[in-house]
Amino acid sequence: MPLEVEGAVVEFGGGLFGGRRKQALRGVTVRLPADRPHVLAVVGESGSGKTTLTRLLLGFLRPTRGRVLWRGRDLASLDAQARRDYRRDVQAVFQDPFGAYNPAYRVDRMMLLPARRFGLAASGEEARALAEAALSAVGLRPAETLGRYPHQLSGGQRQRLMVARAIMLRPKVIVADEPVSMVDASLRATILESLWRLRHEAGMSLVYVTHDLTTAYQVADTVMVMRNGEVVEEGDVEQVIRAPRHPYTQELVAAVPPPDPTIDWGLEDRVA
Ligand SMILES: Nc1ncnc2c1ncn2[C@@H]1O[C@H](COP(=O)(O)OP(=O)(O)OP(=O)(O)O)[C@@H](O)[C@H]1O
Ligand SMILES: [Mg+2]
Repeated sequence: MPLEVEGAVVEFGGGLFGGRRKQALRGVTVRLPADRPHVLAVVGESGSGKTTLTRLLLGFLRPTRGRVLWRGRDLASLDAQARRDYRRDVQAVFQDPFGAYNPAYRVDRMMLLPARRFGLAASGEEARALAEAALSAVGLRPAETLGRYPHQLSGGQRQRLMVARAIMLRPKVIVADEPVSMVDASLRATILESLWRLRHEAGMSLVYVTHDLTTAYQVADTVMVMRNGEVVEEGDVEQVIRAPRHPYTQELVAAVPPPDPTIDWGLEDRVA
């Protein structure tokens, strides 16, 4: 796995106005297998530090202590070329993508420009075909969506757009923070499946942040349970959900109905 977090502590506050410092992460390590693509779910209650962890992985935030490594090198000291690779190979899907979009750009520009810039398409037509396929994969109608501005889309459509953009770019890693929280339940499985498929089809890893143990169970290989800035339990998703060891994980699992192997989530290969 090219992306790792080592003993990260993140503190906020305590600056100029002497407010109390708050530790959003208290020594978190994320290691994924180096030899194969992997889906890691990160679950935990609101405020447990999930988004903070994704911001570290995406290089938007530096840890107060500890390190974030890309292909074994500290993110803080990448040279220009490595930084470009990292920007291309690690893509984000945000919890609330509104702020992530330039309001002056229409969807076509947001999709077509990176397709060209990252060398995925040799011509405008090719870029358009890639964009259309990605939009269709998340249930958006390309003809309707491409001409719109971000504010002309619903929250769920914006989330889907962000997933479409990420999958179109075929990165090595997608870091997705509650990527389907605003999407109708009926579409959630389809979108998660599009993300999940990329593990096999494109050799891509996924860090999937969610409140929702049910979808974590559907898509993940391993799961990390966070509470109050710490990882309280991690391991094989099947094991953690069927036999949780930490009392907090037991509470989480008790709060959702047990996974029913007879339910078809649209992930046939997984729920055997
Ligand atoms: N920029 C910031 N400045 C100060 N405190 C912050 C900042 N960002 C996050 N925090 C605090 O750090 C803690 C972890 O926040 P984080 O957003 O990572 O939680 P989360 O697990 O993503 O929650 P949710 O499930 O609600 O999205 C919270 O107590 C939050 O208030
Ligand atoms: Mg969050």
